[in-house]
Amino acid sequence: MIIAIDGPAAAGKGTLARKLAEHYGLRFLDTGALYRAVALSLLLAGADIEDEQAAEEAARQLDQRILSHPDLRSAGTGVAASKVAAMPGVRAALLDYQRRFAATPPGAVLDGRDIGTVVCPDADVKLFVTASPEVRAKRRWLELKERGEEVAFEQILQQVRERDERDMNRADAPLRPAEDAHLLDTSELDIEAAFRAARRIIDAHLKRGSDRQG
Ligand code: C5P
Repeated sequence: MIIAIDGPAAAGKGTLARKLAEHYGLRFLDTGALYRAVALSLLLAGADIEDEQAAEEAARQLDQRILSHPDLRSAGTGVAASKVAAMPGVRAALLDYQRRFAATPPGAVLDGRDIGTVVCPDADVKLFVTASPEVRAKRRWLELKERGEEVAFEQILQQVRERDERDMNRADAPLRPAEDAHLLDTSELDIEAAFRAARRIIDAHLKRGSDRQG
């Protein structure tokens, strides 16, 4: 089974995807981390973040060790990631890895921006997880604060809007719900409520499958 979870930054996709993977015994891939890793390797090398050739090269030879770098989740890396993610060469270089990961038994939960539309258009279940920009900025702000990164809320809200804008308007694989995606707005839901809502959708899908077989 493949579950695709897409949505804008800080909508709660990551935590939800991880919990679903554990619950259904599936593997989990945070595809945003791949784009972050490409961006961070450029930043660490002192390369220009707008340099498409260098970014594509970094995506092709991605060093897995960078996925555990302490700056991977920083706000600055997130903004830089949305820049390299707009480059078609970078997206193409990361596509195979994501598809192979999804196709490996017993299946996987992938979270990102284009999983239901591009990476796994045949996913069994597609969820599009959203929340208002203010709620998402608040969550991201608290998360950064907990990690000791003191940033003004206004600045985070501005970054959330900037990333939404870039992710939704890029030419290659823009952020949008797949036609057959289930929308899940988490503005008013905590993680447990979002987890229950997602399980209801997935269980209904599994039941339809077993009803057809039996
Ligand atoms: O999800 P996360 O915030 O870690 O993603 C960082 C950036 O990577 C996003 O803003 C987006 O530009 C890019 N991304 C993408 N496609 C994905 C996952 C992430 O373009 N499947």
